[in-house]
Amino acid sequence: MAKLAHAQWSSRMTFVLAAAGSAVGLGNIWKFPYMVGESGGAAFVFVYLLCIGLIGLPILVSDWLFGRRGQKNPASTMSELARQANKSSMWAVVGISGIIGAFLILSFYSVIGGWSLYYTLNSVTGTFSGQDADGIGALFNGMLSNPGLLLLGHSAFMLLVIGIVAQGVTKGLEGAVRILMPVLALLLVVLIGYGMSTGHFGQALEYMFNPDWSKLSAETVLAALGHAFFTLSLGMGIMMAYGSYLGKEINLLQTARTVIIMDTVIALGAGLAIFPIVFANNLDLASGPGLIFVTLPLAFGNMDGGSLLGLMFFLLLTFAALTSAISLLEPVVEFIEERTPLSRVMATVVAGVGAWALGIAALLSFNVWSEPLMFGMGVFDLLDTLTSKIMLPLTGLGAILFAAWCLERKSVEAELAVSHWRKRMEHHRALCSARGCHRCLRHRLTLSRYGPASWRGCSITRCF
Ligand code: TRP
Repeated sequence: MAKLAHAQWSSRMTFVLAAAGSAVGLGNIWKFPYMVGESGGAAFVFVYLLCIGLIGLPILVSDWLFGRRGQKNPASTMSELARQANKSSMWAVVGISGIIGAFLILSFYSVIGGWSLYYTLNSVTGTFSGQDADGIGALFNGMLSNPGLLLLGHSAFMLLVIGIVAQGVTKGLEGAVRILMPVLALLLVVLIGYGMSTGHFGQALEYMFNPDWSKLSAETVLAALGHAFFTLSLGMGIMMAYGSYLGKEINLLQTARTVIIMDTVIALGAGLAIFPIVFANNLDLASGPGLIFVTLPLAFGNMDGGSLLGLMFFLLLTFAALTSAISLLEPVVEFIEERTPLSRVMATVVAGVGAWALGIAALLSFNVWSEPLMFGMGVFDLLDTLTSKIMLPLTGLGAILFAAWCLERKSVEAELAVSHWRKRMEHHRALCSARGCHRCLRHRLTLSRYGPASWRGCSITRCF
């Protein structure tokens, strides 16, 4: 019954767009560059790319795989799959910690969404125009020290998220993602072009891609790992929830590769747009969460057509943040809806208002409540550290262990033996006289390289 009632994405494209909408967000444009700046450049970028390829990709695929199997929200999916495999239902803890993590991330994510809204407004009023680095810095610090303003932005952003999720129109957003994501990429290209005109592009390239390994520490590696999870929306059950709407015919590996490439290109593009401006204006590389807000407005304020481009950029940033924030609220709402008698609208309001309240504590830590609360950090940093450096990697690891422990190797293989392989294998099995050799690894390689003809002379009989 559940399976019949469970909807599916209308096409692979819609799914890719939804997943990319969740993955591409503030993590790429706001967080990635400042983490690179704080961690000393290329060594961090290098480890980050490794984490994306070696850890992010398999976890993304396993999240989708679980979701497609379990067909429920992450916590129920985990316990259901564990039950099927006769393992402890304690595995649901992984799912639940994901939901709590999503809630925590949403609370501070929305604060930054509010900054983005405020900067959109500033672009409309032409505030950036002709400003120098000091002027732009003062604008940013003025915003940070004004709790009322931050609260306004945070509330407006959260209201938008609640409104969209409550109406359940999240799927309607894919159409918009299809158009807006390429426009965002194009704007980044324009900004990179501006970066080239500053004469410091080479320095930025060097900073981002020529590693100084002495800058590498355990701390940097953990930061890179955590960010790989953050930027791909992993470990919080979101991708699992999206996977539950996936049709069997979708090639998971290929789809994951597409999403990861889009996400990484946007993050690297943001870095290449920002660092030339940092070097050209002697700004502080390690200026933290404010980095994009003190660099990009400088570009917009000093280039032809900058006010329009600035407006477009911050609008798009807000939009990218919205599609990600929606994906953070959605699993929390689904969970509440399933476990309590609350309606969807009420569940959304409860979860959204809860995250909003916690977000207030986070935004106050930029001004009136700036003294450290615990471990030398304020609320904002605590929430960020707890989720990115602890919860995301741990739940991700939990998901991998779960796949290894509880799922049968054969069935996972079958699920990953994606349809085009299956078709090719069936075709070539018919051509090949050696029984069972369609599963031979060597043949898969030969096949992909030399095509069907290479099967005719097949002499390998040892199969997996
Ligand atoms: N990936 C998003 C970004 O880069 C943020 C995000 C959305 C997220 N959903 C998530 C992070 C789930 C961790 C888990 O901005």
